[in-house]
Amino acid sequence: MLHKDFEIAVNKLPEEQRKQKPDQDKLGFGQYYADHMFTMRWNRQDGWHDAQIEPYGNISLDPAAMVLHYGQAIFEGMKAYRSNDGRILLFRPLDNFARMNQSALRMCMPRFPEERVLQALKALIYLDQDWVPSEPGATLYIRPTMVAIEPHLGLRSAEEYLFYIINSPVGAYYSEGFSPTKIYVEDSYVRAVPGGVGFAKTAGNYAASLKAQVEAHNKGFTQVLWLDAVEHKYIEEVGTSNIFFVINDVLVTPPLGGSILPGITRDSVLKLAEEWEIPVEERRLTIGEVIQAAEDGSLQESFGTGTAAVISPVGELTYCEKTYTIAGGGIGPLSQRFYDAIQEIQFGAREDSQNWVVPVC
Ligand code: COI
Repeated sequence: MLHKDFEIAVNKLPEEQRKQKPDQDKLGFGQYYADHMFTMRWNRQDGWHDAQIEPYGNISLDPAAMVLHYGQAIFEGMKAYRSNDGRILLFRPLDNFARMNQSALRMCMPRFPEERVLQALKALIYLDQDWVPSEPGATLYIRPTMVAIEPHLGLRSAEEYLFYIINSPVGAYYSEGFSPTKIYVEDSYVRAVPGGVGFAKTAGNYAASLKAQVEAHNKGFTQVLWLDAVEHKYIEEVGTSNIFFVINDVLVTPPLGGSILPGITRDSVLKLAEEWEIPVEERRLTIGEVIQAAEDGSLQESFGTGTAAVISPVGELTYCEKTYTIAGGGIGPLSQRFYDAIQEIQFGAREDSQNWVVPVC
């Protein structure tokens, strides 16, 4: 049963207990949380139930809660944007919820009713509308999450889950903002394996990526470029983002083969490229091909795409101790064009020809 009773109870934090809003110039990423959160619970008998908007606060878990032992945890990353005329807009929210339900299927977790959770999200953001920043580039980052809360130590899929949404006003994901990144091509650690959980937005994928990220940071790099787990030669992703290359005026990105996250920003770039009649190839490409293109001058640009960072241009790629500069170490014209177009659509400042934007109010 998907859901039994989806009335949303609202328990508001008294005005005098609401937090002071942070300075919008110093938001960083994921350091502050809005006053309220949405929660609902699932068990086999009742389906989804106890949906409520309540004050942001700690959740209480049994030490035997299965998420703490066996990692049934999935999440999403999405944003709310304040337009110049004061509206609050969401970007493709139902695509995020559809992806989350795909993650749920892979992790043996219950699916949730996407339209109803969208209504809950709108109500939550409406209540905390003062938390949606108005400074250019700042947004409200939305983190829907689902975890297994049943206390049990035998290994099986849990029979009780908590779903919640928390919201965090954020600035740029990388401290450098929208500027070229230095990328280390990771040829020993891998992120995901064929038949594994790489396409699911599940916590373990991020935990597994930390070691490579820490080592790359220590060497002065922004992020790592992941290669495939079998031959260590096919390009997969960059950090927590999808990756694109512009080679000989063609936009090239690896196909979604099960080990790559189906990014909403990735898909938006592909759809805009089609609208703009830019040739696109979704195909496997090797690090050897990229290095060759960097050497012969046919590699014009590269950029990562993700909700948190939007578009992150790659300024340098380091592979086997050699560093290759891309787009002269600056921001390539196509990276800039995608960044501007996506941001303008998200903030309601450009025609939304693909019907991606969903107003909260
Ligand atoms: C996102 O881009 O929204 C992500 O989920 C990345 C996250 C690690 C901040």
